[in-house]
Amino acid sequence: MFWPVYPFDELKTFVFNALEHNASYYDHNIMGLPATYLDPKMFPADADFLENAPFIKSFIENPNHIGLHTYEKSISSFQGTQKLELDLLRICAEEIFKAVPNNYDGYVASGGTECNMQAVWIYREYYKNVLDAKNDEIIVLFSEDTHYSLFKVCNILQLNFKLLNVDFNSREIDFEKLDNLLSELKADGVKYFITVLNMGTTMFGSIDDIDSITHLYKSHNIQFKIHVDAAFGGFIYPFTNPNNVFNFENPNVDSISVDGHKMLQAPYGTGIFLIRKGLIDNVLTEEASYIEGLDHTLCGSRSGANAIATWMIINMHGSKGLMDHMEQLIIKSDFICKSLSELDVRFFRNEFMNIVTILSEDIPRRICEKYTLVPDMHKGQPKWWKIVVMEHVNWQLIDKFLLDVAQCNKDNLGMSLAYG
Ligand SMILES: Cc1ncc(COP(=O)(O)O)c(C=O)c1O
Repeated sequence: MFWPVYPFDELKTFVFNALEHNASYYDHNIMGLPATYLDPKMFPADADFLENAPFIKSFIENPNHIGLHTYEKSISSFQGTQKLELDLLRICAEEIFKAVPNNYDGYVASGGTECNMQAVWIYREYYKNVLDAKNDEIIVLFSEDTHYSLFKVCNILQLNFKLLNVDFNSREIDFEKLDNLLSELKADGVKYFITVLNMGTTMFGSIDDIDSITHLYKSHNIQFKIHVDAAFGGFIYPFTNPNNVFNFENPNVDSISVDGHKMLQAPYGTGIFLIRKGLIDNVLTEEASYIEGLDHTLCGSRSGANAIATWMIINMHGSKGLMDHMEQLIIKSDFICKSLSELDVRFFRNEFMNIVTILSEDIPRRICEKYTLVPDMHKGQPKWWKIVVMEHVNWQLIDKFLLDVAQCNKDNLGMSLAYG
């Protein structure tokens, strides 16, 4: 994995040049597009600071990146900044997720939810178009720790789904149960499987065992497609565990989604969807006839500025910078885990991830609430509370939290000695 660091000034020049290669609503002949620059009363385009604010400048110019630019044709008015999006996709697909150059499609979506829906939509249509599948012959499988967006996806796409149980402590999928489930589903006439696997679950940061799952699928001789939900983990796990198998070198991985607006600290609206070349044709909307290159995406119009922001962040750090940055988060997570263990507080943690999920029995709710830990459920009694070690979770905050946990342990010990 390698891409270089670019200084901010160079990135700024790249972005301004890219905007020059777009058609600008300010000084080009644009009369047919149902769009314009942002309202100048609110967003003046001549403010002095904009000379040093390429993202805000792009935001005000308001290029629409509608459609798919990895395809042979797309709307020509915003070609300049589309090229930056293409370069962002290249870095993610080829450098981070090991795709063969130009052997993938993708776009910058609104976020992980849209990416998950785009993937399942494509596979449903693939099974229908290519294998003549009926809706009720298709099933979507995902673990009980999978993000709730999958429930929306199956509801909207009218697909049946089954949850795969996980072990309470290890958060690993129960393969014996899955084995039985596959036999039952096949006996019930299910022929086509869509599986969403996690490179980092939302609550635990746990990583699904793709090798064991695909091995099991092959032993059942079933048709399957695999989407990797790396919305949270995609910008940390490949850096902290470079030998992982969640990438396009693995023939079982068909698509991957990763959110810029989580680990990369990009603005909301930067979900990156990547899929092996060709599969996305199954959702080409021919009726989008007024759009050059038609449309393969779920969302339609989308902000070019978001793609630019993510492209700038990724190039400002370079591969080495991001690796160092993620390593710092791992060092902090390791320290939290070591300290919690010394305090006899039980937790789940994947060693390559920055999520530490504490058993609720071992930590008082008032401390969790004081430090805004997130529970697995807001209604009823939570079983778990999670810490996500993001950039702003600094050593001072960690120390304060651990001191509070230690103090509470001491008070409890004092109580049990006094009454015990
Ligand atoms: C694993 C995972 N997938 C999908 C999503 C949904 O992402 P978004 O909120 O960007 O739609 C999240 C959000 O937390 C997530 O953690």
